[in-house]
Amino acid sequence: MTLSTAAQAAYIVAALLFILSLAGLSKHETARSGVVLGISGMVIALAATVVLAADGAATLTVVLLLVAMAIGAAVGLWRARIVEMTAMPELIAILHSFVGLAAVLVGWNGFLEVENGGGALAELPGSLLGVHHAEVSIGVFIGALTFTGSIVAFLKLSARIDSRPMMLPGKNSLNLGALAAFAVLTVLFVASPNLGLLVALTVVALLLGWHLVASIGGGDMPVVVSMLNSYSGWAAAASGFLLDNNLLIVTGALVGSSGAYLSYVMCQAMNRSFISVIAGGFGIEAGPSGDRDYGEHREITAVETADLLKEAKSVVITPGYGMAVAQAQYPVAELTRRLRERGVEVRFGIHPVAGRLPGHMNVLLAEAKVPYDIVLEMDEINDDFATTTVVLVIGANDTVNPGAVEDPDSPIAGMPVLRVWEAENVIVFKRSMATGYAGVQNPLFFRDNSRMLFGDARQRVEEIVSAL
Ligand code: TAP
Repeated sequence: MTLSTAAQAAYIVAALLFILSLAGLSKHETARSGVVLGISGMVIALAATVVLAADGAATLTVVLLLVAMAIGAAVGLWRARIVEMTAMPELIAILHSFVGLAAVLVGWNGFLEVENGGGALAELPGSLLGVHHAEVSIGVFIGALTFTGSIVAFLKLSARIDSRPMMLPGKNSLNLGALAAFAVLTVLFVASPNLGLLVALTVVALLLGWHLVASIGGGDMPVVVSMLNSYSGWAAAASGFLLDNNLLIVTGALVGSSGAYLSYVMCQAMNRSFISVIAGGFGIEAGPSGDRDYGEHREITAVETADLLKEAKSVVITPGYGMAVAQAQYPVAELTRRLRERGVEVRFGIHPVAGRLPGHMNVLLAEAKVPYDIVLEMDEINDDFATTTVVLVIGANDTVNPGAVEDPDSPIAGMPVLRVWEAENVIVFKRSMATGYAGVQNPLFFRDNSRMLFGDARQRVEEIVSAL
């Protein structure tokens, strides 16, 4: 068996492991083994790639390859070890930008290789050379779009730039114009490949990526992140075609299609149009509701909350990003245990985009050993709020905003939310009257049945536990 056949066989094994990994990741119980399968697939893929690249290559090339891998692995391990759970989405966004950049570099290299008459490519017959140039153009386009789009997502998620949508006049025409320019440039590039056209194509894609993501509003960022995940997959698949690497094609297609499906599912959960999101279309300007006077809010203390909870028949806890920031899941789990011991029915209502990444709240609650069977999804719990005695909104804001249902002018109008306001009493744990991620005021805080429990969520829940 030649080295190349062995590597292809290893690639098939790696591809199968990636598919099994995705299957494993789809359930709590099998997620851990899914991760292990994914890591194993990646180790096999990397080893096969290095062996293949090293075959017959100059020593310097092999050394450079190993040094680059060592640096990449060291930086990756370092960042992954120190990253806070709340900063995961921005880490993912910046990693997507690397995939995009790699696809651009691979595309450019594919073009320059032919220009310099290098490799087997120069011997390709005319029609296949045309296909090659089309691959270069598509790969560079998707890669450049992913690169700048992911950088904007990173900047927005880490609050380095404003998360509100950028509203350039005629933004849809700009997007469509950029797509048309890409099509024209690709045709010209295939007909007569030259550096000027490739530069123009790259610049158009970089600007389009920036504009697409900048045009999408704060509350819709979760969909954008999964959409960029999908784009990065397609960028990798395009590189696979250029590098004639089957594993990269398979892996890219897996990431691309699963990312696209996740975006679609999230769009459905958020009641948004999928087409409109991938077209960078539905960011909405801050409506008049931002400045509206909602009246006065009322406050409650931890001890009074404990008294209310003692008398409650049923309690629903709706956690959000603030629970993650405060790391309040441990006292929340303790509070749940105490209340259940007293015979109070306690359940959790989890909004699909609560926190900052899909499944964020589920992971935190599982970490604190809250039983799975009392952690319900939004649709499973929404009809039960009307018969609930107390709802504890712990560090959630946008996901419990009645404006989404009742105010057509609200920037988050139409987004399904947890209808906590239907309960007898609502206690909102947060530190101030500040808005949530989408930057929208929340009329819930001013309702007659709502009371604010100000302060760090962890401290306040601990106080309630000791008062109980
Ligand atoms: P948010 O609307 O972001 O609100 C979180 C609230 O937590 C804030 O109002 C904040 O108020 C409070 N908070 C922060 N630190 C706290 C602490 N230490 N103690 C107590 N409260 C604290 O949260 P949400 O309801 O979970 O909604 C998620 C939002 O993020 C949505 O708009 C969603 O679209 C977006 N998003 C989600 C994802 C995914 S995939 N889940 C990804 C990106 C963006 P104070 O500052 O007053 O304390």
